Amino acid sequence: MVYGPASQVNNLSPELGAGDPLRPRVGLAKQGEQVYRENGCYYCHTRAATGGSFGYEIQITQLGDDRQLNAEAVDQHDKKYSRETVFQKAYSYKAVAKAADALKQEQDKEPEERDQKKIQDANATLISAIGLSNDISRGAEEGVNLKAYGVSGVSFEKDLLAQLGLPAEMNANQARLVKEASFPVTDGSQSWKDIEGTIQKLKDKAGAQYKLQPVAKEWPDVEKGAGRQSVSRDFLFDEHVMIGVMRFGPDLSNIGRNILFEEKNGKEVANNPEEQVIEDNKIYKHLYDPQWNGQSSHMPPFRYLFKQRKLGENERVQSGEIEVEKEDSYRVAITPTAKAKALLEYMKSLRNDKPLPEAPLVRRKQASAK
Ligand code: HEC
Repeated sequence: MVYGPASQVNNLSPELGAGDPLRPRVGLAKQGEQVYRENGCYYCHTRAATGGSFGYEIQITQLGDDRQLNAEAVDQHDKKYSRETVFQKAYSYKAVAKAADALKQEQDKEPEERDQKKIQDANATLISAIGLSNDISRGAEEGVNLKAYGVSGVSFEKDLLAQLGLPAEMNANQARLVKEASFPVTDGSQSWKDIEGTIQKLKDKAGAQYKLQPVAKEWPDVEKGAGRQSVSRDFLFDEHVMIGVMRFGPDLSNIGRNILFEEKNGKEVANNPEEQVIEDNKIYKHLYDPQWNGQSSHMPPFRYLFKQRKLGENERVQSGEIEVEKEDSYRVAITPTAKAKALLEYMKSLRNDKPLPEAPLVRRKQASAK
């Protein structure tokens, strides 16, 4: 009973495999672990997202050279993915790259040895591709163009990029779009058996590169906001492993992700300090009075984690204070104590939104795909 689990945990390393190691909690977050413990939050909240069932979304990260074979592979399922702009553009970029290469080869030869026919063909391809790119509105299509450029797997010189309507000097965001480019060719509801054939075609015949994205099918914890299943490694740096006793309140294994403003309603949003204060204050108010917003809750209030004072009728809160106003019952200004601040930092450190080799990230079903 002691040796078995201990030997498993001893072999765990903080490396995530992608050069992004798990980090121990430091500072306030570490102190917050103690506050979480002494207030018995783990009696009602778990920190253990459980597993469920998922389907696969195949995401093409690089298309193979043969357009026909690749089209056949991606169109195995009901939708015609080869008709999508990303697919078509990727192949025009591939054609451009081939033409540019051929042109360069000819130009490197002595003038009398050049094959004029080849030069003409290459120029024609280039001109038609450039003409095509001038037709489209550049701003609106940029994301699609960059994605297509990424999955085409080719790389152009600066002047050619500019002629094709792609940014010649890419900023960090544009470079990321190219590097992480992928496009889905299944909708995520397929089981392994459904996609086995497609995978084989992509790999063996079409020579495409792809990755598999698990998408929650029947996976309540992921549907409620967890990024993946919790595993032993998540507790590697915990002084006291507080997996939880029972789920009286919601699981908190990814609560940090929900509190941090980085992602709201499933969308990545830029970090914004003012919005972050609003999110933080919601948690403070919830701890002070779980029913502050008029919603019923079985969570007990943790008022002693705050300094509080009653507000007069027209009195305003001072800086650093948070106003809590509950209809017909009170209007107070609260100030979080050091313990409340530490607890908040601890909660922000609770995240399972990074993939682990033994627990890949599972995407939530899109609301529209219901
Ligand atoms: C007696 C059981 C109980 C205890 C103890 C308890 N909670 Fe809760 N908690 C609940 C319940 C039930 C809910 C769901 C209702 C609600 O949102 O208020 C909840 C909700 C929450 C939420 C909102 C989660 C979300 O996803 O919206 C947070 C955050 C939270 N609790 C943190 C804490 C912290 C931190 C502690 C310890 C200081 C704690 N809870 C102690 C029962 C409890």
